[in-house]
Amino acid sequence: MENFSFYSPTKFVFGQDTENKCGALVREFGGSKVLLHYGGGSVVRSGLLDRVKKSLTESGISFCELGGVHPNPLDSKVYEGIELCRKESIDFIVAVGGGSTIDSAKAIAMGVPYEGDFWDFYSGKNSPKAALPVGTVLTIAAAGSEGSGDSVITKEDGMLKRGAGSDLIRPKFSVLNPALTMTLPAYQTACGATDIMAHVFERYFTNTQNVETTDRLCEAVLLSMIHETPKVIANPNDYQARANIMWAGMVAHNNIVGVGRDQDWNSHGIEHELSALYDCAHGAGLAVIMPAWMQYVVEHDVMRFAQMATRVWNCKMDFANPLKTAMDGIQAFKNFLKSIGMPLTFAELGAKEEDIPTLVKNFGIGDGETGGFVHLKAKDIENIYRLAL
Ligand code: NZQ
Ligand code: ZN
Repeated sequence: MENFSFYSPTKFVFGQDTENKCGALVREFGGSKVLLHYGGGSVVRSGLLDRVKKSLTESGISFCELGGVHPNPLDSKVYEGIELCRKESIDFIVAVGGGSTIDSAKAIAMGVPYEGDFWDFYSGKNSPKAALPVGTVLTIAAAGSEGSGDSVITKEDGMLKRGAGSDLIRPKFSVLNPALTMTLPAYQTACGATDIMAHVFERYFTNTQNVETTDRLCEAVLLSMIHETPKVIANPNDYQARANIMWAGMVAHNNIVGVGRDQDWNSHGIEHELSALYDCAHGAGLAVIMPAWMQYVVEHDVMRFAQMATRVWNCKMDFANPLKTAMDGIQAFKNFLKSIGMPLTFAELGAKEEDIPTLVKNFGIGDGETGGFVHLKAKDIENIYRLAL
């Protein structure tokens, strides 16, 4: 195991009706004037936004609103939010929604105290020195942004999807009420489940030796997802399954399952170009890319893939042919994704073969290489897109 520091300062408030504590939580973390940030309207239709507003009002906290965050959030909304926060002297942002809304809130939070263009944090030109505090009321178990120090935004000029990371944007609090996720369509629930599993796989495939504790934590999260996801697809109102998935989503991405080891993240980078170009759901893009990536890199460490196959997918170990076991595990993953309604190919996703050169170009590594488990060059990225056709 490698040296590490683990910092997860978010206060998680979990369970039924917890959105009613929002006002008290903002007060606890020093907020007095809130920007309520939300997406395309699901939180308005469900009545959640009204409950959050009531809670703020009861705690004597004033607020203004900015809705309309697009899934795969766009820079234009971030600029709008920065301007609004400055004009209204906002000192706290509450994101009510999914990863897109939370990421947009985090971008605004970094942008408000910064004199330059917030995109500097996403292009790698600068790193933030300050940010407004952010709290979240989560409505979908997926991105893990409720506990992460990351934010992913798409720049409309060129449709470039890029991430920024800083401990400054880890939420002060996150309200996790599993019942809020019951209104999700089955497809979106499955996209979320896929993303959660991908966050674990990006960490599981590592070159670091002697990481038994985190290996086992990863496997526990994956096994829980395999067990719980079909239940919510069959019955969206299964509170207990929703609860297990919601907590798995947080655990999968606040890095507790990834400390002390190198991690990969190429599948995410490769997928982000798909969701930037086609505006597909991030989880659906991962369902297409992650198995293709696995197939492409499996021979780098056959025994690690065989470990996944036996411990997670219950495959029988073929000692004479471990590669077969490894491939059985990848196939089991694909079967699972298919069973929950996920696409597995470019065609099912609506992506086009002729766009592959654009996708590779947008990926933007030029002659360089990227990744932790296996270093990939532009040609490898292209090969993975082609494997996913
Ligand atoms: O916009 P509204 O109307 O709220 O509808 C949303 C949206 O259409 C809907 N939805 C959310 N909760 C709902 C609901 N509909 C009915 N009932 C509910 N309870 O679901 C759609 C998707 O929402 P979105 O926020 O986009 O989903 P998700 O949480 O999957 O976020 C995806 C974004 O997060 C990024 C992805 O790249 C993508 O842009 N990621 C962020 C990460 C991070 N910050 O740490 C890590 C991830 O790997 C990921 O890259
Ligand atoms: Zn993800």
